[in-house]
Amino acid sequence: MKTKWTAERIRSLKGNGKVVCLTAYDYTTARHLDAAGIHMALVGDSLANTMLGYSTTLPVTMEQMLHHTAAVVRGITGAMVVADMPFMSYQISEEQALANAGRFLKESGADGVKVEGGAFRSSMIARLVENGIPVLGHIGLTPQSIRQLGGYKVQGRKVSDAERLMADALALEAAGVFAIIIECVPNSLGEAITRAVQVPTIGIGAGPHCDGQVLVSHDVLGLSGNTVPRFVKRYAELGDQIVAAFKAYKTDVEAGSFPSDEQGY
Ligand code: KIV
Repeated sequence: MKTKWTAERIRSLKGNGKVVCLTAYDYTTARHLDAAGIHMALVGDSLANTMLGYSTTLPVTMEQMLHHTAAVVRGITGAMVVADMPFMSYQISEEQALANAGRFLKESGADGVKVEGGAFRSSMIARLVENGIPVLGHIGLTPQSIRQLGGYKVQGRKVSDAERLMADALALEAAGVFAIIIECVPNSLGEAITRAVQVPTIGIGAGPHCDGQVLVSHDVLGLSGNTVPRFVKRYAELGDQIVAAFKAYKTDVEAGSFPSDEQGY
């Protein structure tokens, strides 16, 4: 019987081991991720891109996120499941943020939620945490602000931006997050923030010094096509294998070699 990963266990990895996280959006991927012993399954709003074909994460809804999160939860026995709060589900008021975060725990069985943003989110995050909802922070390149940022670019290159991100990380820690995702910043800034905070930092394009790593599982598996960000490492080429399998099936069906007598009754 596996011991379930919780916010507290993830937090206690700081200084004691790396936090290993991948995205999952469905039951089957969740089962494989869990079998591999990954600590945290993030139901990222990147499912807008990978599962639903949108060009940004902005359109994805609460109902879609709840639906996918519940499927992931059904496939997991050991990993902590964190649901990404979608755009405009936590920005309007603290009351709405609390109600929507609560839905992830009550309706889909998630173990925690993730929100994007820094110091300006502190009071909302503290409110969630006080009410028993573990929160994962997310700073640096925050895709829900893509219209403001003007593109998927490295953040914190200027000294003033780096200082702001450092202040954001400290504010999130004070608000009670159990860990902080840092996306797409220079390695040196990833390292400096990791040294400054007492909760684990989980990098994605933030260099080798963070306390853990997260990647989009479609990128890791070679299912995202050929244009992936530089920070991605592909561990398989499942996209090519899927196309080859589908072609072989088509060839067999067209040639009349599948099904054979063996596959019949
Ligand atoms: O939505 C997502 O997948 C994410 C990360 C990979 C950090 O937020």
